[in-house]
Amino acid sequence: MNTTPQLHIRKLQNAATDLPLAQKLIDEMDTFTSDEKLVAMELICKAIADEENKPETPPDYLVFAAFIGETNETMVGHICYGETPMTHKTFDLYWLTTHPRYRKQGVAKALMERMFEDLRSREARLIRTETAGAALYQGTRQFYQRVGMIEEATIKDFYSLGDDLSIFTYRF
Ligand SMILES: CC(C)(COP(=O)(O)OP(=O)(O)OC[C@H]1O[C@@H](n2cnc3c(N)ncnc32)[C@H](O)[C@@H]1OP(=O)(O)O)[C@@H](O)C(=O)NCCC(=O)NCCS
Repeated sequence: MNTTPQLHIRKLQNAATDLPLAQKLIDEMDTFTSDEKLVAMELICKAIADEENKPETPPDYLVFAAFIGETNETMVGHICYGETPMTHKTFDLYWLTTHPRYRKQGVAKALMERMFEDLRSREARLIRTETAGAALYQGTRQFYQRVGMIEEATIKDFYSLGDDLSIFTYRF
């Protein structure tokens, strides 16, 4: 695996400057449907709005993004997660992206490590994420295993006949 030089990870918190960069990243994702892109952007917008308007309140959604470039102007990936309502210290990983041009260079692994670090400080117990069993997501399932998540459950034919739902977990 190559390593992306000068990767910089930070929380998204400024709608004026961060949203256009996030929109470009999401627009250029190759595996998401247009509906998925809308939902991914909706959660990014909500996370930034919470940061801007009520920084003292525990947010429903947290978003970190990875940047490269001299002035960190290119957003090459993002991770979005939040505490699962009505649980004790269980979190959901909702979205994880690496721009198609920057894959297999450690971007998503670095984003996961940033999330783990943040969640340790929040005394998280468990992370859950869901992904599809379709061939398109085989690489994603392998990725989750590489970063220490376990495929804990499967629901057969969840998305459509032959397309299962896989639930991956990580325990602290
Ligand atoms: C899944 C995804 C986020 C991985 O991002 P990435 O930046 O390429 O991953 P990394 O470079 O950090 O890879 C970390 C490890 O996983 C492995 N890995 C990553 N993608 C893989 C793939 N498609 N197949 C097999 N292994 C893979 C890497 O080889 C690496 O292993 P190593 O630690 O042994 O070297 C990226 O492929 C992506 O954006 N996919 C489309 C969106 C998606 O599925 N998101 C998740 C659900 S919302």
